[in-house]
Amino acid sequence: MALNVAIVGMGGIGNVHAQCYEKDPIARIVAVCDIIRERADRAAERYGCPAFYSVRDMLKSGVRIDCASMCTAGVENGGDHYRPTMELLGGGIPVLGEKPISNEVAKAEKMVALARKKHLRYGINLNHRFTPAACRAKEWLDEGRFGRPHIINMTMWIDNPNETSPYFHIRALHPHSIDVMRYFCGDVISVHAFFLRGETRDGRKRKCWSNLQANMLFKNGVVGHLTGSYDAGGGFGLERCEVTGSKGRFVLNDACVDLTFYSRNGTETETYHHLGGMTGFGETFASRIHRWLEQNAAKVAPSRIDGSGEDALRAQKIIEACIASWERKAVVDVKY
Ligand SMILES: NC(=O)c1ccc[n+]([C@@H]2O[C@H](COP(=O)([O-])OP(=O)(O)OC[C@H]3O[C@@H](n4cnc5c(N)ncnc54)[C@H](O)[C@@H]3O)[C@@H](O)[C@H]2O)c1
Repeated sequence: MALNVAIVGMGGIGNVHAQCYEKDPIARIVAVCDIIRERADRAAERYGCPAFYSVRDMLKSGVRIDCASMCTAGVENGGDHYRPTMELLGGGIPVLGEKPISNEVAKAEKMVALARKKHLRYGINLNHRFTPAACRAKEWLDEGRFGRPHIINMTMWIDNPNETSPYFHIRALHPHSIDVMRYFCGDVISVHAFFLRGETRDGRKRKCWSNLQANMLFKNGVVGHLTGSYDAGGGFGLERCEVTGSKGRFVLNDACVDLTFYSRNGTETETYHHLGGMTGFGETFASRIHRWLEQNAAKVAPSRIDGSGEDALRAQKIIEACIASWERKAVVDVKY
């Protein structure tokens, strides 16, 4: 039986979620909500459901909602998530939020705490790890194909000329890269980060810290590095993740384009191109959202949600530790 889904925030990404739900056989869109009336009305017409202009009115309406996507944005792309997420969770609705969970750790903690208190599933759209290639690499890691993991290197870079606040780049983009690093190697305990203000493609000097290099020590002893930039794009690609271990290494390109296994004991390699038929980043939304729907349909325990609010909160704490490291010029322990 299909799940009744509501979507809050009908901008670009809310509509991407809606198109995924439309195509997914286990979802039915029953409500859309935006504080901008025209956006809500346009979406209601497009998806054939009622429009609401506040979460409160949507909850009062009596429309049965099994789970909701939260696609607001705001300061550093996460400033508006808190209030409507708390309203949805307060109303007993499982929530799939957009990243960053929040640009403020204290608010992220409150959302995670409320979901836990009410035993509700709370996921975040950490879509980069929801690819057949990333899942295959994780299986290899878990079955010991690389031996003991030693090093993880992650690069994520795009061209984003926007300037909002000094740490916009790390707070808005790197929930994704850090989530992928955590997916493969677990929790980070210490960081040491450096930032640089670069230039946009048209030569404008940046006000925000648009380039990042961070060293990370993981709880399991793995040593990692994150390279990030908003001054990239073009032929740079989107991301590259490499893990080495005592027996081998893998390289994962652009989340789903190429995955290659390299053995330490030989020169033969094993490469998958577009594993599982996934060809580009845009398709990661549908696969992440389908997993969220599956887990809700199966009524899994909130603690077993893949790409959970808790995962996103932990990534945000690593981000804040990187910022503290740069400001204090020191190695900083992550506070959990
Ligand atoms: N996972 C990904 O790969 C990915 C990619 C891009 C963007 N995002 C994230 O998606 C989110 C949305 O981005 P966007 O570009 O669609 O933003 P947007 O500004 O275009 O849309 C946000 C919408 O939310 C509405 N809104 C704000 N507060 C509201 C409230 N209280 N109730 C109802 N509606 C409200 C706004 O009116 C707006 O229409 C951001 O958090 C962004 O970081 C994720």
